[in-house]
Amino acid sequence: MFDLFNKKKPLSEVFPFDFVDIHSHLLPGIDDGAKNLKESISLIEKMDSYGIQNFITTPHILGNVWPNSSDIILDTLELVQEELERRDLSHIKIDAAAEYILDEQFCELLKKRDLLTLKDDALLVELSYFNAPVNLFDILFDIQLAGYRPILAHPERYNFYHNNLDIYQKLKNAGCRFQLNLLSLTGYYGESTKKIAEKLVKLDMIDFVGSDAHHHRHLEALKGLGTKKTIEKISPLLKKNLSFL
Ligand SMILES: [Fe+2]
Repeated sequence: MFDLFNKKKPLSEVFPFDFVDIHSHLLPGIDDGAKNLKESISLIEKMDSYGIQNFITTPHILGNVWPNSSDIILDTLELVQEELERRDLSHIKIDAAAEYILDEQFCELLKKRDLLTLKDDALLVELSYFNAPVNLFDILFDIQLAGYRPILAHPERYNFYHNNLDIYQKLKNAGCRFQLNLLSLTGYYGESTKKIAEKLVKLDMIDFVGSDAHHHRHLEALKGLGTKKTIEKISPLLKKNLSFL
């Protein structure tokens, strides 16, 4: 039901049952997401109140800034899973992959096939917010040659592409699937990102969505999705994420 005062539906009525959030930063202390186990749990509980109970959380693997490894991620995941169980929150399913920035270190991991996928061959990758690697299309080719399928995280957030809409089709043709950040549609990242997000949705170029939740401010802002107009836009998209179960 719409809240008559602010005309927004509670998110628990927006997310379909069994929705899987495939992009978030909920593991404690290993990237710019949850700072500690307490914060991990409180973020997860808040999302549970939004009707989101399935997560494939995706810590950054980003050079020397967030030098995570598959082992670090999986060990940290276990801490969260144990804590959820200890707190009788075992209806929450949380698994982990990673959000890989496409740099030289990534290419080394790719050579070793030391990569955590969202599911099967689905690999979540991101670009720097300043520029794309010069050999981007070679890397995308190598990813697929190695048997993975790239999903580009938040294509709408790369400002250097905002005046070059052709690039999105080029990325699609190169085998990328696109994951939109839901917050982009609320205007959280600015008007330009919102416009590109809406355009990509309209052109039916978005394959999956994610919260990309790092902290509680993101979760507060997510409530902005509850307007009638936005719900109409995102409902079909939310269903696409069910394929990750
Ligand atoms: Fe992210």
